[in-house]
Amino acid sequence: MAAKSVASPSIKSLVAEVDNQLIGYVSYSPIFLKSVSSIAGYILAPLAVSPEHQKQGVGSNLINAGIEMLTKDGVGVLMVYGDPAYYGRFGFKEEIGCSFVPPYTLQFPFGWTGMMLNDTPVPEQPIQFECVSALSKPDLW
Ligand SMILES: CC(C)(COP(=O)(O)OP(=O)(O)OC[C@H]1O[C@@H](n2cnc3c(N)ncnc32)[C@H](O)[C@@H]1OP(=O)(O)O)[C@@H](O)C(=O)NCCC(=O)NCCS
Repeated sequence: MAAKSVASPSIKSLVAEVDNQLIGYVSYSPIFLKSVSSIAGYILAPLAVSPEHQKQGVGSNLINAGIEMLTKDGVGVLMVYGDPAYYGRFGFKEEIGCSFVPPYTLQFPFGWTGMMLNDTPVPEQPIQFECVSALSKPDLW
């Protein structure tokens, strides 16, 4: 029997700690574009900071560190579904959201945003994608 090796992009998580206590967490998981194989895509979800440590830049650090990590990894697009008033600070844009069609109907008509990385051009046509099993639940969208 021949062994078959399948390369699959990994889920990447970052944590913030104070005194060995977890106070912040973010996960970045791959998305799988259906019609374009040349762009590596990721989605940011979930992100959470413990209430007593919020508004101290922890969330911003987790996002900026993630953008830097994914850029170094050669990722072409990063998506997020959340409050545009928050994520817009980091460069996520709704027009990029229009170019990447989520696998489920969105509950809110706003907040689906993205940013292109590594000078990747915005696709000319909207691209559908699938995501990892943990996010493949309609209730999350
Ligand atoms: C959203 C969250 C991760 C932000 O973490 P944080 O460490 O407080 O973020 P930062 O310190 O980097 O930034 C805080 C700033 O973001 C603002 N902010 C936080 N949530 C926001 C939101 N939903 N919309 C707009 N602004 C928001 C704060 O008012 C604060 O503004 P200021 O800098 O003008 O004071 C945190 O509030 C949280 O864990 N919330 C509950 C879980 C959640 O909503 N996660 C996001 C799901 S998409």
